[in-house]
Amino acid sequence: MLNCDTLIRNATVLDGSGNDAQLLDVAVHNGRIVEIGASLHCSTADIIEADGLCLAPGFIDVHTHDDTSVIETPAMLPKISQGVTTVIVGNCGISASPVRLKADPPDPMNLLGKREYFRYPTFDHYVSALAAARPSVNVAALIGHTSLRNNHMDRLDRTANEEEVQRMRAELAAALASGALGLSSGLAYASANAAGTDEVMALASTLIGARSIYVTHMRTETDAILYAMDESFRIGRYGESPVVISHLKCAGIANWGRSSEVLDALERARASQHIGCDCYPYAAGSSTLDLGQVDPRVRIEITWSTPFPTAAGRTLTDIATDWNLTQLDAARRLQPAGAIYHSIDEDDMRRILAHPATMIGSDGLPWDQHPHPRLWGAFPRVLGRYCRDQKLFSLPQAIHKMTTMPARRFGLAQRGAIAEDYWADLVLFNPHTIEDSATFADPIRPARGIEKIWVNGTLSYTSQGLTGDRAGRFLPRAKTEWLQ
Ligand code: ZN
Ligand code: CU
Repeated sequence: MLNCDTLIRNATVLDGSGNDAQLLDVAVHNGRIVEIGASLHCSTADIIEADGLCLAPGFIDVHTHDDTSVIETPAMLPKISQGVTTVIVGNCGISASPVRLKADPPDPMNLLGKREYFRYPTFDHYVSALAAARPSVNVAALIGHTSLRNNHMDRLDRTANEEEVQRMRAELAAALASGALGLSSGLAYASANAAGTDEVMALASTLIGARSIYVTHMRTETDAILYAMDESFRIGRYGESPVVISHLKCAGIANWGRSSEVLDALERARASQHIGCDCYPYAAGSSTLDLGQVDPRVRIEITWSTPFPTAAGRTLTDIATDWNLTQLDAARRLQPAGAIYHSIDEDDMRRILAHPATMIGSDGLPWDQHPHPRLWGAFPRVLGRYCRDQKLFSLPQAIHKMTTMPARRFGLAQRGAIAEDYWADLVLFNPHTIEDSATFADPIRPARGIEKIWVNGTLSYTSQGLTGDRAGRFLPRAKTEWLQ
């Protein structure tokens, strides 16, 4: 008789490979999947009757800013309630570690929370804090270029000199040796925009031989997006590393309709190097409030404002009208602040989401007062709205984009698949009812249709809510294995 502590019976198993589902039993013991088959029996197990509900590997949120929330709010309800069992932190050039602050965190590092949350002068400090906090989800981490710049430069509006580059490289190398996944950049932001391509290439050269990854919020997502893509690919080639383009989109009304052109460029480059991207399933982005993106034709909603907390949830148009100011002047007065920009075309987003190179990343901002609904809804929205209702891709393909594809690309060993000896990160969901509940008007709402979630074999969340058991771990980099 099989030795197991949990037996899930009669589940429609989507194993993450993209292949068709099969009705199977899955046995779990000591945190791992020990057997998959028809009519399994175990003597002592908790028996879960799945009654045909879908069982998938836990979802991997490849694009998060959960660096400090996994420690400050380890229940991680916005993520686990979506079926997410692993978050990748440190995106967009901003990681909570290694960071040494002399003042308030510079924009956009402030997306990771207030100054007191930055307590990790080295990556090893961060890894220890994760172990102590034991969040409900697993955590794997990128090292942010902007964070390194913050540590080694007196000002961020210039490119780094040779000595600063060497110090940043040494700090990145130390973090990689401690299991960081790779390097991220956020070249569109003022705190990194002055960095020349050479500076980023020099840092990326630290990745050579590390089997790691370069992830980038590109220098621009508007008119010059093709140049920015080309810069990203050059940096990846120089660092002999795969490239993931973060939240790929055609931003700004003047760029609507260019997604085919952008995806063609991606395809051409993919013929000679490893390139992928991630995407969130919404026609609106969110970040800090950027004066450069204020456009009266774009609906802008304020997500937080330090001097005017009551502005959160209101549109910039309304605020500007109340104050009898232009939108630009109102935006200046709200600073520092965050915003949602409805500046993406739905068809472009759908085309990028459906592309076989695309993974799913929420890009949710956990500290925003009135957050973009992607924080609570991204994964169920892909499965409900875009897979089931709009048939943009099959269910096995949708699951593949959220599980096996990211696990291989980011080098997460024995994760992202339902296979024997793999870690038992599992989500049981109802394919007929799964749906995001969070909306722009009412963004803090758990999704529907998620029945049960196991993290490292521990039942952590059910449709009744959190179980109270948290079993997430730090996941060190194994090695990337690229599936195109
Ligand atoms: Zn970004
Ligand atoms: Cu981001």
